[in-house]
Amino acid sequence: MDVPAGLKIAMCTSEAVPFAKTGGLADAVSSLSLALAALGHEVKLIMPRYYGISRDKLKKLEGAMGVPMGGGEEWCAVYTAVLPGPEEGGKKTKNPVVVYFIDHEQFFGRDGIYGSSFEPDFLDNPRRFAFFCRAAFQLCRKIEWEPDILHAHDWPAALAPVFLRYGERRSAGEPGSFANTASVLTIHNLGYQGIYARDNFSYTRLGWDVFYQAGFDDWNMMNLLKAGINSADKLNTVSPNYARETLTPAGGVRRDGTLRYRGGDYSGILNGIDTAVWNPAQDKYLPAPYSAANPEGKAKAKEALQRRFGLPETPELPVIGMICRLSDQKGIGELFGPSYGSAWSICREMDLQFAFLGSGEGWAEYEISGLASRLPNFKAYIGYNEELSHLIEGGADFFLMPSRYEPCGLNQMYSLAYGTIPIVRNTGGLADTVQNYSQETGEGTGFMFDDLTPSAIYNTVGWAVWAWYNKKKDIEAMRLRGMKEDFSWNKSALRYVELYKSALKR
Ligand code: ADP
Ligand code: GLC
Repeated sequence: MDVPAGLKIAMCTSEAVPFAKTGGLADAVSSLSLALAALGHEVKLIMPRYYGISRDKLKKLEGAMGVPMGGGEEWCAVYTAVLPGPEEGGKKTKNPVVVYFIDHEQFFGRDGIYGSSFEPDFLDNPRRFAFFCRAAFQLCRKIEWEPDILHAHDWPAALAPVFLRYGERRSAGEPGSFANTASVLTIHNLGYQGIYARDNFSYTRLGWDVFYQAGFDDWNMMNLLKAGINSADKLNTVSPNYARETLTPAGGVRRDGTLRYRGGDYSGILNGIDTAVWNPAQDKYLPAPYSAANPEGKAKAKEALQRRFGLPETPELPVIGMICRLSDQKGIGELFGPSYGSAWSICREMDLQFAFLGSGEGWAEYEISGLASRLPNFKAYIGYNEELSHLIEGGADFFLMPSRYEPCGLNQMYSLAYGTIPIVRNTGGLADTVQNYSQETGEGTGFMFDDLTPSAIYNTVGWAVWAWYNKKKDIEAMRLRGMKEDFSWNKSALRYVELYKSALKR
């Protein structure tokens, strides 16, 4: 089949900035979409309209849309908006990414994307997202638009490639046949697979033969991501190193066999960062712009950060910043675990300041608040705060990311771009983006450790703090080296286009 020059790409996702975000998935999907549009491709982004997305600024498509599910049909509305992107010379872009919001009151008219504090994983998630994936096809029919590529992200969208392969892709010539559509599934995090009771399966309207054929079966449960991995034409994850790790039993979260089976179709493509949003030279949340050529503004950001967190405004003390979802993935046990975590000793024994931003597991929020009340040099903001996240990236001297595993990680790239030196575990995408400091040559862009233990975190933070006081020139050189690196989407978006083209040759 001939591959068209400008591709029509349908992005199916549960998160996209600025509309809904719990983590890096939201940043990655939106910035990839904009980068693809900038290359001339036609990108439409399809996502649920959660309760938190106000209808006021959206445009409603005429008529209700029926989606065949279970024994009947679900009815929903569709709203649209343009994905905000950088303006071209003060004018709106010529090739906008249009977002289609699937609006279904019963499934999405509630607080929370995947769950709430009372119900961390909504019981009806398999139905909510099965409906969403099926609705994506109905939407394409409704707007009479047949994508070349259906690009699904993570378990909530993983049923889209399954539906395409088992039922939606029909013979060429039939209207709305998706005969020439190929699918790509991107795994942003193998730790979340969408595993639910198999009773939910009949709601998908797939036959029970497909349950086994597509490999839904997971110890008598239904695994959405696994079926997506088996069904998509091409697969990828968000860094080459994480792709290698997931092919091993240690990093494969029980899916390494399935991924090895799909080996030839599976690769790693490093995420980029949105340089219009994450750029210290034009960051609206920073008190003064700065760049590698004019780095002076960083000191102002540090002062503002210290003031904001109630830390003494001392330029001499290094500030360690940290922003994260409080989940086991991020190494929070080893850092904040009651009695064994290293944060207490780090702050008690080292001349530094620590500014934390994040939310998540209750025990960790409790421990962190406890540390903040007992340690004068440890301050924390528990919650989600976009502005503070920019201030930490800009104002901190070091950024700590002791992840147990990290498919890509965006914060270490933001840190490098902001001249904030990352202290990271040597894993996943962190290993692909940070180079370890060498005391002999002064080379490197960050400080790295291999084993995830409280003492390894303690020692590596200690090493960075030692260098801060004793190797000032190296620290300055590292900062500038990081700021000069190119983490824009340019290269990676082209690699996605290659992946799309290979998917179309299926
Ligand atoms: P993950 O997706 O695993 O959480 P990433 O590093 O890829 O990790 O992306 C995390 C994203 O979420 C970053 O943009 C980070 O700044 C943001 N983030 C996480 N927690 C918060 C918070 N509490 N407030 C603001 N932004 C946050
Ligand atoms: C996931 C991963 C993170 C990655 C992000 C965007 O949330 O945990 O490492 O950067 O997706 O791809």
